[in-house]
Amino acid sequence: MEIDPELLEPSLRYKLLIGSVVPRPIAFVSSLSPQGVANLAPFSYFNAVGHIPLALMFSVSLKPDGSEKDTLRNVRPPSEGGTGEYVINLAIESYAHQVAECAEPLPYGESEFDYVNLSPAPSKVVKPPRVAESPVAFECRTLQIVPVGQFHVVIGQVVHLFVRDDVLGDRNRIDSDKLGAIGRMAGYEYCRTGDRFEIPNGFPKPAES
Ligand SMILES: Cc1cc2nc3c(=O)[nH]c(=O)nc-3n(C[C@H](O)[C@H](O)[C@H](O)COP(=O)(O)O)c2cc1C
Repeated sequence: MEIDPELLEPSLRYKLLIGSVVPRPIAFVSSLSPQGVANLAPFSYFNAVGHIPLALMFSVSLKPDGSEKDTLRNVRPPSEGGTGEYVINLAIESYAHQVAECAEPLPYGESEFDYVNLSPAPSKVVKPPRVAESPVAFECRTLQIVPVGQFHVVIGQVVHLFVRDDVLGDRNRIDSDKLGAIGRMAGYEYCRTGDRFEIPNGFPKPAES
């Protein structure tokens, strides 16, 4: 089947995209409104940008009524009405249900922290709290927000990193089993990261004769 995406209904494009780009890591973003209300929401259009500097991106759609989601409003720089800061927490199996719960839209000014069984912990450098239960938290400052049609790609620089001692293993490697990260598939499906295998880089060595 050959498909011109422009001829598809957006809902079908979405289905093909989220069913094929799998698994997607999930940014569990805590942010703060200029009035000081904490917000928490999951985003699976999420990935690393690079490590010089350490930077991450996530992409936010508009709400069905065309207005901006609370996270996008908050992460905008102060000159655009936000605070320009946020924390990317991980989505992990032990609080997977709370991650999904935080996708529920709340009126601007109400905090997901008041509804889910997760605790805010003070961040070290930025004002928005991190999620205390998250084994890793990236404190970010917004570098750039790139509009792409009805989406906004938020690129942030990590200005501080929290890593819980027990997930840091041998030679500073993160222990994936202790981390317990989950990924997003399509619809209501998620996956675990416990089933892994190794492949060395490079072409196979020629067989010795
Ligand atoms: C696992 C998961 C991943 C999601 N990924 C995205 C995403 O990448 N972009 C987006 O705009 N919304 C995404 N959503 C929906 C938002 O979380 C939802 O719209 C939320 O209410 C936004 O919250 P806010 O208005 O407090 O920012 C996702 C939801 C779930 C459950």
